[in-house]
This record gives sequence, structure tokens and C-alpha cells, in this order.
Amino acid sequence: MALSQGGKTRDGWSSRSAFILAAIGSAVGLGNLWRFPAEAGANGGGAFVLFYILCVLMIGLPILLSETLIGRHGQASAPESVRRVAKASRVSSHWDILASMGVLAAFMILSFYCVVGGWVLYYIGQFMADIFASGVTGGAFEGRPAEEIEALLPNLFGNGILMVGLNALFLGFTLFFVARGVSGGIELVAKWMMPAFFILLIAITVYGAFGGAFSQTVSYLFTFEPEKLTGPVMLAAVGQAFFSLSLGVAGMITYGGYVGRNVNLGSTSAIISSADTAVALLAGLCIFPIVFAAGLSVAAGPGLMFQTLPHAFQEMPTGSVVGLLFFIMVGFAALTSSVALLEVPTAWLIDKFRFVRPVSASIVAGGAMILGALAALSFNELADWHPLDFIPLFAGQGFFDVLDGITAKLLMPIGALLTALFIGWFADRKLVDLENGLGGWLHLFWLFLVRFVCPIALIGILVVGIFPGMFE
Ligand code: PFF
Repeated sequence: MALSQGGKTRDGWSSRSAFILAAIGSAVGLGNLWRFPAEAGANGGGAFVLFYILCVLMIGLPILLSETLIGRHGQASAPESVRRVAKASRVSSHWDILASMGVLAAFMILSFYCVVGGWVLYYIGQFMADIFASGVTGGAFEGRPAEEIEALLPNLFGNGILMVGLNALFLGFTLFFVARGVSGGIELVAKWMMPAFFILLIAITVYGAFGGAFSQTVSYLFTFEPEKLTGPVMLAAVGQAFFSLSLGVAGMITYGGYVGRNVNLGSTSAIISSADTAVALLAGLCIFPIVFAAGLSVAAGPGLMFQTLPHAFQEMPTGSVVGLLFFIMVGFAALTSSVALLEVPTAWLIDKFRFVRPVSASIVAGGAMILGALAALSFNELADWHPLDFIPLFAGQGFFDVLDGITAKLLMPIGALLTALFIGWFADRKLVDLENGLGGWLHLFWLFLVRFVCPIALIGILVVGIFPGMFE
């Protein structure tokens, strides 16, 4: 749909449901399927999960609404949208720094996100090869020792060229859709892949539930043991809520920029965050029973999805098919998120330099390819290169971890903090009241969260992130 702005028309979502699907596509990704179960498993289950839900409600949802509100008011790229809200509120246009940092953060996350997207492609290839070699009936990788299956990931890490190639392939898919535009590309990928994703997730969860370890999973994920709710667990939960809802990187400002005036942002934001949280919980209910049923540990952290789970598929009848479908599903979710990440800097380039969309998207993807290649090589050829060794927070870390650390520990929380301060304290009250779609006490409660709860929580995340030893 073309949105009119100052006499010019701009590509936009064709309907409210298209926006909801695309925003859910951005939110639902590796964060839900890979990071959430890994964090929940490593942080003791129920305490993490329940605190996570609280964070989504009290911090994530209010910021999500603030971001979409800025975008919808501005109808432009993220920095320009912030400037327009600032202008309408008669405050400094320098607030656009919050979105400029977001553009940078989105670009950096895109670079390493597509590296992990490449790992997903690798596993799709492995399961396909297994089906060709041994058919569809048996478990995955039948007859191969557990160590060999768990070594698939380190083997991939040992092959720099393959990692760079797979990263380029995943980035290429992402570029294809972003270059085609908002309604013709980004919306298209969300419209087809998100429903397919949901069907696969539910089907695999139901299938896994018959494996017998479902009740063990439910009690693990939802039993609240207060003594497990330590400082680091709380911090992990808040950080995860932000990453999962795509906040603090101007992503939802950018997507909000394509939303029509008639859309109620309050209810839409509630739908997006509920769907994202539901998928994270379903991912836990999907992965843990399979892992428990195979008698394996859920506390493997990042290795849970890429090492423990493939091993668990070995124990499962038709495990190779289920494994293939599982990784295709992860690939869909990751692609709709990487598309959002590429769109943020692309929209900015279009606005700033008036480049046409395919050129803007290609420039950003080219840059992300270079950073991504360095990130991929930090697992092998460049393993000894620690670019920020002189900064204690990043000492001893390879390039992949540095990109992750700068965005998760600094750029995302700072971006979200500035968003909360801007909307809570500086933006024109009338503008905000009119546009947030909330009424009565809900409106007041939202304002209270944005003004007080979000800034305090975000300052906490920043301090603990920068000085990790402080609360030990
Ligand atoms: N929310 C995505 C996930 O959970 O995988 C990651 C992400 C996508 C972060 C888009 C930021 C963003 F703009």
C-alpha cells in the first residue's frame, strides 16, 4: 500500500494484519528458538521463564509501543521519524541519536545473525544428506556415535571458507526480499513463512510431546523456585526479552514507519509481544521433551539447538525428517528477522541519500558481508584476533563475540533507554496520548512504566552489563 506523506507516496504494509505478521516475523527468530531455550536451560528453568514473562509485560511491551508510535508518527526512516516527533514536540532534534545508534546496531547484528543463519543452512544440508543416505524411517544419523553428531558444529567452525559461503548465501536470501520492497518483498516473506513456521512448530511440539517427557518439561519450565532467581538470571531474562522483541535497534520504529494512521498501536503491540512470547515458550515445549526423552542435558547453552538436539533426533523414530523440518522452521524464522535487520539501515540510506531501494539494500548487505566474513573467520583463521583487547569488557574476545557484546550490552540497552526517556519525558503529551491507542488506566499505567520502570531497569542492565563483576 502506498502511504502519503507530505505529498509524496511511500511504500507501506498492505493491511494491519500484514504489519502484524511482518513485526512478528521480525520478533520471532533465532532469539526464540536458539537463545531462549538455551538461556532457560542454562539458568535453571522456571525462575528464568516466569521473570522473562514479567520483563516482556513491564519493559518490553511499553518500549515496543513507544517505538511503533515514533515510526508511525514519522512515516520515514528511523532517525527521520525521531526528528519529526521531536519537531512536533518542540524539543532538540538530536534525539535522533537514539535511532542512528539503532541503525548501527541493526547493521552489526545483521552481520553476525546471518553467520548463525549459515549454520542453520548447514544443518538443513546435513539432515537432507542423511535422508538421501538412509531413508526417512529411522532416527537421524543412525549408526553414528554421539560424539560425531555433536562434532558437526565444531567441524563446521573449523572450515572458514564454508562458513563464509553459507553466511553469504543466507545474506543473499535476505537481500533478495528486502530489495523487492515493503509490500512486495518483506511482506511476502512474512505472509508465507510465518504461517508455515507456526504449523511446523506446533506439529513438532505435538509429535515431541508423545515421546513421553512432556510433563517433565512443563514442570521444569513453569515451576517457580525463588532461590534460583539470582541477579545474573534476572539480567539474562531482561536482555533476552529485548533481543527477542527486536527492541533498541530502531527495528520497530522502521516497521512502524510503514503503518497506516488507522491502526491501533496499543492492541497491535500487545498481539506482537504475545505471539513472540508464545513462540519462545512453545520452542521450550518443543525442544525440551525431545532432549529429556533422549536422556540428555538441557543445560548445554548455545550448544543445545545445534549439538544436543541433533543428537536427540537420533533416538526419535523418523528423526531425520523431524530434524530437517525443525531446521527449515528455524531457517524461516531467522530469515524474517534478518530481513527486518537489513531493512533498518536500508530505509535510512534511501531516506538520507535518495538511493533506490535495491542499491541501498545491496550496499548494506555488502558491508554486512565483510563484517560477517570476519565474524565467521573468528571461529577459525582469525581465532587469535581479539580486536578490542584493550577494553576490559571485550578483552580476549573474537570478532563475533565483540559484535554480539557491543550490541547486546551497550547499543540495545542505550537505544531502549533513550526511547523510554524521549517518549516518557520529552515527547509532546498530546501527540503521545492521541497516537498510542490506549485509554483510561491502561494509558496511565503505560506512561508509568515508560517513565519510571523502563529507565530504571535499563540503567540496571547497562551497569551490570558493563561491570559484570559488581554483583557477584
Ligand atoms: N528478535 C530477533 C530474534 O529473536 O531472533 C532478533 C532481532 C531481529 C533483533 C530484528 C533486532 C531486530 F531488529
